[in-house]
Amino acid sequence: MSADSKFNDDMLRAADFVKQKLIDAGAENVEVCPTAGHPIVYGEKLIDESLPTILVYGHYDVQPADPYELWDSPPFDPVIKDGNIYARGSADDKGQVYMHVKSLEVMLQNGGLPCNVKFMIEGEEEVGSVNLGAFVKENKEKLAADTILISDTSIIANDTPSITVGLKGLSYLEVEVTGPNRDLHSGVYGGAVANPINILCEMIASLKDENNHITIPNFYDTVVDLHNEERAALNEAPFDLEEYQHDLGIESVDGESGYTTLERGGIRPTLDVNGIWGGYIGEGAKTVLPSKASAKISMRLVPNQDNVKITELFKKHFEAIAPKSVKVKVTPHHGGQPYVTPTDSIAYQAASDAFEEAWGKKPIPTRDGGSIPIVALFKEELGLSSILLGFGLDSDAIHSPNEKYGIFNYIKGIETITMFHKHFAKLNK
Ligand code: BES
Ligand code: MN
Ligand code: MN
Repeated sequence: MSADSKFNDDMLRAADFVKQKLIDAGAENVEVCPTAGHPIVYGEKLIDESLPTILVYGHYDVQPADPYELWDSPPFDPVIKDGNIYARGSADDKGQVYMHVKSLEVMLQNGGLPCNVKFMIEGEEEVGSVNLGAFVKENKEKLAADTILISDTSIIANDTPSITVGLKGLSYLEVEVTGPNRDLHSGVYGGAVANPINILCEMIASLKDENNHITIPNFYDTVVDLHNEERAALNEAPFDLEEYQHDLGIESVDGESGYTTLERGGIRPTLDVNGIWGGYIGEGAKTVLPSKASAKISMRLVPNQDNVKITELFKKHFEAIAPKSVKVKVTPHHGGQPYVTPTDSIAYQAASDAFEEAWGKKPIPTRDGGSIPIVALFKEELGLSSILLGFGLDSDAIHSPNEKYGIFNYIKGIETITMFHKHFAKLNK
C-alpha cells in the first residue's frame, strides 16, 4: 500500500517477491532498484539482439484496503471462490503483472520465447509514479525497446474482448476553506458568520452547470472533439444501460448532457469530489459552526488537455469564486497527461491478432476513464507507444473491498500475452 508509510516494510517484501518470481521464471539481471520512494523491480531475458524487445510495465503497489470490515475475507489472504481470486491487488495490478511472469516461464519452458523481454514493475503507480519519471530518464538505454506492454486495464466482458486505446489524464487537488479563526457555537454565530462547509458546498456545486458542463473558464479550450464517425464507432461497443444501473444499484445515470454513458466515461473530461470533511462527525449532535472545511477534487482529462494547465485554471477559478467571508487554499497533488494508443502500429496489430487467436474474436478498441499517468511520459522520454493489454472486468471492484480477478481472465491473459509475443516477433520480421 504505497500511500501509507506504515506498510513500507511490506512494500519491500512485495518488491523482493516480484524479484524472486522473475528469477524463478527465468529472467536475468533481476534487481530491486532503489528510488527516493518505493523501489522498482527490473529484470530481463535478452535472447538475440536482432529480435525485437518488449518492455513490460506494471505495478506491485495497491490502494489501501480500507474499510477492512467490508471485506468478506482478509484482503491480504487470497481466497479462491466461484472462479475468482479475492484479494487486494488481484486485478490491480499484482495478478495482472503475474500473468507476465507466468507467460515468460511458459515461453522459456517450451523453448518459444520469440523476442527479448524486459520487465519494469514499480511500487508507486497508485501514488502517481512520483519517482518513476526520474528512473526512466536515467535509464533510457537499459529500457530501450520496441514497444511497451501493460496489463493494468479491463476488457468489456469475457465474451467481448477489447483493447484499451485511451487513458484519461488526471489533475488532483485538495482545497481548504477557512472561515472564523476557531469553531463557534452554531446558535450564537450561525447565520451571521460564514460557515466554511456551506460555502465549500456552494463553491463545489457551482463548478458544474445544469447540463453538467464544467464551468471553469477555458477548461474545454484544448479538448479535441471526436468526429461523428469516431463517436458512432465508440458507441457500437456492447453496453447494457439497464444492467449497468442494476449492477450499481442506481435508478438512473447522470452526466454531461448530449453524451452517452460510454462517451462520458471515455472521451469527456470530468470533475469529481473524492472526499469532503469538516465540522463534527462523531456520535450524536454537536452544535458547531466549524472554522474549516476541506475536499479532495479530481478532474479526469482527455486529449489535448494539459494537467498542469488545468490545475492552474482550477486554482485560479476556485480562488476567484470564494466570497470575502472565507479564505481558500488550493494544494495540487500528483497528476498526469491523457494518452491515446495508435491503432495503426505493428504492436496494436499483434495485440489484435493475439486476442483473435486466444478468444476467437477480434477485440474492440475502447477508451477508458482510468489513468496510468506514466504512459504519456514513456512516449515522451522513450519515444515508445504502450499497448494496454489488460484482462480485468469493471466488476472486479478494483480500489474497493472484495477486489477480485477471474481465474478465466488470468489463464486467458497468460495465453494472450504469450501470443502477443509471438505475433509481435512475426510482424516485426
Ligand atoms: N489500473 C488503474 C487504471 C485503470 C483502471 C485504467 C481501469 C483503466 C481501467 C491504475 O492502477 C489506477 O488506479 N490509476 C489511478 C491513477 C493514479 C495516479 C492514482 C486512477 O486512475 O485513479
Ligand atoms: Mn493499476
Ligand atoms: Mn489502481
